[in-house]
Amino acid sequence: METVLGIESSCDETAAAVVRGDRVILAEHIASQDEVHLPYGGVVPEIAARAHAEKLTPLIEATLADAGMTLADVDAIAATAGPGLIGGVMVGLVTAKALAMASDKPLIAINHLEGHALSPRLAEPALEFPYLLLLVSGGHCQLLLVEGAGKYRRLATTIDDALGEAFDKTAKLLGLGYPGGPAVEKLAMQGDPKAVPLPRPLLNSADPHFSFSGLKSAVMRAKQSGDYGDADIAASFQQAAIDCLIDRTKRAIAASGSVASGPVTALVVAGGVAANRAIRAALETLAHGNGLPFAAPPLALCTDNAAMIAWAGIERLRMGQSDLLDIAARPRWPLDPDAAPARGAGVKA
Ligand SMILES: Nc1ncnc2c1ncn2[C@@H]1O[C@H](COP(=O)(O)OP(=O)(O)OP(=O)(O)O)[C@@H](O)[C@H]1O
Ligand SMILES: [Mg+2]
Repeated sequence: METVLGIESSCDETAAAVVRGDRVILAEHIASQDEVHLPYGGVVPEIAARAHAEKLTPLIEATLADAGMTLADVDAIAATAGPGLIGGVMVGLVTAKALAMASDKPLIAINHLEGHALSPRLAEPALEFPYLLLLVSGGHCQLLLVEGAGKYRRLATTIDDALGEAFDKTAKLLGLGYPGGPAVEKLAMQGDPKAVPLPRPLLNSADPHFSFSGLKSAVMRAKQSGDYGDADIAASFQQAAIDCLIDRTKRAIAASGSVASGPVTALVVAGGVAANRAIRAALETLAHGNGLPFAAPPLALCTDNAAMIAWAGIERLRMGQSDLLDIAARPRWPLDPDAAPARGAGVKA
């Protein structure tokens, strides 16, 4: 059975994992850089790249040792090749190329977003294509029809901010530190989701896309007004975000019924924001209300990790795919290159 070493370094987690084709994660290590970026309130690309360069090699050695393996025992080396902070991506990809060359094993260059998109299949053997995926992370908010590895149709994206970014900015505003998502979720549990009147951008819009910048600004005004407690702001922000996600996903479920690849097998959520329990619960209710199974990876597989990269490598390997050693790192790499640009300038793919 195939065994793949996965490497992730696209943002502020340095990670390595060894995953087997029967979905067993034989070993994994993640080194978070939270502390080095904390004084800046966000990830500093140059500092991130240097930290990846320092930590990655010992991390890979420790991961292989934990799995009781050497490079000779793995069938391929999979590394994130984009999208992300280019310095960090280059560290991971160049390391993977060197290991592939030294061990004469195939290199598989993985789109980080494909790692997130296929991560629910690592956790859930029964999850079949095509499924409807809500990909919500630090840099992206998209609804995608996942028809297979490498086969994505983007139904919606954000015209401004990603939801993870909005969680992080809300956290910063409330003095909760970075990364902000988990802290906002925790504080929201003590607040009243109806206390602060906040907008729900694009609610009921015929346009399929997301928008979170107006919500972010409204959160800032609510805080500056001094009229509301922080827990109420956190709870009201989270509820507004959930209402937007549910409205847009409901629309996509209806739209997915008319696509050529046939009815979707499940509603699936992935990406860092998918670790939010309130969001998971709301999506599960929506899925079941529409007669669809719901799937979400365990929390540790939602935020950046190398097991999902190794798993995407296994799916690619099964399709007979690998990459040449001259493949370049990519700062931008949309899952669906044919998607029409969304309204609004400078949006992320
Ligand atoms: N429990 C949570 N609730 C809400 N948001 C969360 C939670 N846990 C993590 N997040 C958010 O998830 C984001 C990190 O997700 P992830 O690691 O997938 O993003 P990224 O890799 O930086 O971006 P991308 O995958 O788009 O390149 C952060 O914005 C973080 O605040
Ligand atoms: Mg990510």
